[in-house]
Amino acid sequence: MNVKRIVPHLIVVLLVAFVWLPTALSQDDIVELKSDAFMKHTRPAAVFMHDAHNEKAGLEDCFRCHHLYEDGKLVPEEDSAGTACADCHALKKQGGQPGLMTAYHKQCKGCHVEQDKGPLACGQCHVKD
Ligand code: HEC
Ligand code: HEC
Ligand code: HEC
Ligand code: HEC
Repeated sequence: MNVKRIVPHLIVVLLVAFVWLPTALSQDDIVELKSDAFMKHTRPAAVFMHDAHNEKAGLEDCFRCHHLYEDGKLVPEEDSAGTACADCHALKKQGGQPGLMTAYHKQCKGCHVEQDKGPLACGQCHVKD
C-alpha cells in the first residue's frame, strides 16, 4: 500500500462527508422521530415534520422545545437546538428529569392539550406505514 496514493482518496471522502453531513442533519429533513436511544421500538416512528409543524403551529422560539438547563436551572430564552433529547434524557428518569419517552410525550402532548390542537391519540402520532 502506498500512503501517498491513499491520501487524495481520503481527502475526497472527508470533503464529501463535510458537504453531506450538515444537510443530512438539518431540521427541515426531519419528517418523523425515531430515536436510536430506545433499544427496541414497540411503536411506529412518530410523525413530526419539523419545519412544517412549527410553521403551522406558529412556533418561532426554538427554546420552546430545545430547552437549555444549566446546573438544573432553565436558562431563559436560550436553546439547545442541535442537541438530541437523548443526549440529556436517559431512558430512565433522573430526579426532576423525565426519562426519554416521557420527555417526548410530556412535551408533545402537553402543548397539544394546552392549545387544544394537535394529536393526542397514540395512532395519530405513531402512524403505521
Ligand atoms: C403527540 C404525539 C404522540 C402521541 C399522541 C403519542 N406518542 Fe408515543 N412517542 C412520541 C414521540 C415523539 C416518541 C419518541 C419517538 C421515537 O423515538 O420512537 C414516542 C415514543 C413512544 C414509545 C417509545 C419508543 C417505542 O417505539 O417503543 C412508546 C412505547 C410510545 N411512544 C407509546 C405511546 C402510546 C402507547 C401512546 C398513546 C397512549 C403514545 N405513544 C402517544 C409521540 C407521541
Ligand atoms: C415543537 C418543538 C420544536 C421546536 C419549536 C423546534 N424544534 Fe428542533 N427538533 C424538535 C425535535 C423533537 C427534534 C428531534 C430531536 C431528537 O429526537 O433528539 C428536533 C431536531 C432538531 C434538529 C436536528 C438535530 C437534533 O437535535 O437531532 C435541529 C438542528 C433543530 N431541531 C433545530 C431547531 C431550530 C433552529 C428551531 C427554532 C427555529 C427548532 N429546532 C424548533 C422539536 C422542535
Ligand atoms: C441540554 C440538556 C437537555 C436537552 C437537550 C433536553 N432536555 Fe429536557 N430537560 C433537561 C433537564 C435538566 C430537565 C429537568 C429540569 C428539572 O429538574 O426540573 C428537563 C426536563 C424536561 C421536561 C420536564 C419539564 C418540562 O419542560 O415539562 C420535559 C417534558 C423535557 N425535558 C423534554 C425534552 C425534549 C422533548 C427534548 C428534546 C426536544 C429535551 N427535553 C431536550 C435537559 C435537557
Ligand atoms: C409548543 C406547542 C407544541 C409542541 C411542543 C408540539 N406541538 Fe404538535 N402541534 C401543535 C399545534 C398548535 C398543532 C396544530 C397545528 C394546526 O393544525 O393548526 C400541532 C399539530 C401536530 C400534528 C398534526 C400534523 C401537523 O404537523 O400539523 C402532529 C403530527 C404533531 N403536532 C406532532 C407533534 C410531536 C410529535 C411533537 C413532539 C415532538 C409535537 N407535536 C410538539 C403544537 C405543538
